[in-house]
Amino acid sequence: MLAGKRILLIIGGGVAAFKSLTLIRILRERGASVVPVLTPAAREFVTPLSASALAAERVYTELFDLTGEAEMGHIELSRDADLVVVAPATADLLGKMANGLANDLASTVLMATDKRVLVAPAMNVRMWQHPATQRNVATLTGDGVLFAGPTEGAMACGEFGPGRMAEPEEIANATRDALADGPLRGRHVLVTSGPTHEPIDPVRYIANRSSGAQGTAIARALAGLGAEVTFVTGPAEVPPPAGVRVVRVETARDMLAAVQDALPAAAAVFAAAVADWRVASQSGNKIKKDAAGTLPQLDFAENPDILATVSQMQTGRPALVVGFAAETDDVIASATAKRARKGCDWIVANDVSPETGIMGGSENAVHLIHADGREDWPRMTKDLVAAKLAARIAIALGATGEPGEQGDTT
Ligand code: C5P
Repeated sequence: MLAGKRILLIIGGGVAAFKSLTLIRILRERGASVVPVLTPAAREFVTPLSASALAAERVYTELFDLTGEAEMGHIELSRDADLVVVAPATADLLGKMANGLANDLASTVLMATDKRVLVAPAMNVRMWQHPATQRNVATLTGDGVLFAGPTEGAMACGEFGPGRMAEPEEIANATRDALADGPLRGRHVLVTSGPTHEPIDPVRYIANRSSGAQGTAIARALAGLGAEVTFVTGPAEVPPPAGVRVVRVETARDMLAAVQDALPAAAAVFAAAVADWRVASQSGNKIKKDAAGTLPQLDFAENPDILATVSQMQTGRPALVVGFAAETDDVIASATAKRARKGCDWIVANDVSPETGIMGGSENAVHLIHADGREDWPRMTKDLVAAKLAARIAIALGATGEPGEQGDTT
């Protein structure tokens, strides 16, 4: 899917810049052409000559490079590509992008482009976790900028944690997904995933064992078919996929608000393990043990049912609403009843009894329940379940690759 595509690769200044040379090689092997732009800081880590040799293209470095401006201005440079990729995206570059600063070639191109932008952040763990960076990431995510990574691991600075640039292979895959000309191109699809956390007091919460693996795989598969995916996720173990708009939430009520904010969508897949109840009287202070050993009493209130709320919308309901039913007994009967009760179109039902190893595992055995009956899918990896489900969604939406039907954002 990369053949014939033109990638403008902005290389920021970081130790990970050397990996971007491998990225150039992989993108070219997959048929893309790569035009590198090096920031002044990047040139401390890799030379324009290496980038140019690997790309077999001229490398751009300065905003006021007169020869460059005569041959190709920075506006044209930003429009000439099919996708702009920033790797490594330093804290400084993310800050400039989020705040609309444009004082060198890289940041100017990023402001001027009319194409999608994919960033692969790379920085020290504390810089990544700094509230300023996290604010910038939230702004950029809201602006529709796509993220690949960062991942967790040992860093050149000797620390450990999130902030490592994604591997070139993974960035190349995210590049492919961002350019995917699949059947869901231009269609907006919403996916919920992960558990929710329902606070008891400022330090304690009620949670469940959902890892977010299945929802993440579904979002990735839908993005792979070209869909514009909004991924509303609770605090999951598995990191969100690249190439989707990520909205992080904590409680069921936050999740409902995020889902309502993200609509309209052509389809919505509710894979999150939403807590059915929350603590009604959440304590503002940490609940303490008392000397008499009195046990705390928790009162519960029912959480909103997000799937039922969206399924029963009178106007603006997604054309296809898919729910999940994780059951431990009477899987088919319970899931069939659930489909009717909630009003969704499909239910993906699975048995999550501990002996199945499905909850938290890498495989799943599901039944797809719809108005015309049910299908029993054999046990397969969660990635394959996701691919199969995404393909079925594309068929159900009658996806022709032409955007613009009801429920689309475009
Ligand atoms: O009722 P139950 O929790 O078994 O329903 C599971 C399905 O409903 C899943 O698709 C889940 O994402 C969704 N759900 C929801 N909001 C809730 C509870 C469940 O969206 N409060």
